[in-house]
Amino acid sequence: MPFTVTIQPSGHHFEIDEHETVLEAGLRAGMNLNYSCSGGSCGDCKGRIIKGELASIEHHDFQLSEADKSAGGVLLCRAKPASDLVIEAFEYSRPEDIPVQEIETKVTKIERVAEHIMLLQLRTPRSSTLHFLAGQHVTLLADGIRPRNKSVASCPCNAMHLQFHIRDNPDDEFSQYIFEALKTSSKLNIRGPWGSFILDEESERPIIMIAYDIGFGPIKSLIEHAVALERDQGMHLYWITSEEDGHYMDNYCRSWADAFDEFIYTSLGRNQHVEPEDLEADFLRRMRIIREDHSDLSGYDFYVTAPGAAIESAKALLVEWGAAAEHIRVDSLERF
Ligand code: FES
Repeated sequence: MPFTVTIQPSGHHFEIDEHETVLEAGLRAGMNLNYSCSGGSCGDCKGRIIKGELASIEHHDFQLSEADKSAGGVLLCRAKPASDLVIEAFEYSRPEDIPVQEIETKVTKIERVAEHIMLLQLRTPRSSTLHFLAGQHVTLLADGIRPRNKSVASCPCNAMHLQFHIRDNPDDEFSQYIFEALKTSSKLNIRGPWGSFILDEESERPIIMIAYDIGFGPIKSLIEHAVALERDQGMHLYWITSEEDGHYMDNYCRSWADAFDEFIYTSLGRNQHVEPEDLEADFLRRMRIIREDHSDLSGYDFYVTAPGAAIESAKALLVEWGAAAEHIRVDSLERF
């Protein structure tokens, strides 16, 4: 029978099986807990038991002080429950809570998922996973090449494996480096995280996500995080692309729609040629389906990625249609 863990001071709670550590169960449930090594070495996951019993505490190299021990201090990555628990633990909730980190990662996968899109997977060392919030971005640093900011396209619940979606751009040397030179097992440094395009975890309003091309990356991170949090207020994902094969994770999106009653997925590909200078106007034109699908936009939260300068126009359009400006979050990261 699962137990319940309640975190103080936030009051967040989640279920835990007796064979899981508090950290494992908390990350699976989408909690933004502080941790690094998951193995009892760093001390970053230190919390305090306020109420409840532990079944076991696995061996750890990090030494808790006597004061910590007598106050109920425990490493969450080593502790398994024997009852419901109330714990005191630090959770990231704002971008400014998170220190800037620079981490050397290893490339574990480079996969071309569409003609012009590469999926890049990086692995951090176990001892220094990336602390970040879903939807944020980091700087990718390669020797001799101008650094580029890229959104993390995966969930903080698995911060050792980071996914990025990269577009082929012949005019951008970083893109060419990813497409032409980078190999599996290569090293790539990351610095960050940056940005405030994050989930409003306190909101119970239904959500409309609008992704444009590889702007799907941070939207995917947000959705995976919302799924981990078991948000059930309803979500409609619109993925608008500039190319026929632009929905490079279409099946993955459909699996969300199949798995969750309250999840709707609408893919909007391009079936006619649009000149590059008309892409922004074309995006705004295709956004009109949102108004047709939802007669009243006033009660929704919006998360929007859009082409270039269209981001402010997209926001203005949503407000014109009745959305509350304070409930619209836009990702203004420039995508190359
Ligand atoms: S995460 Fe490092 S000791 Fe728990």
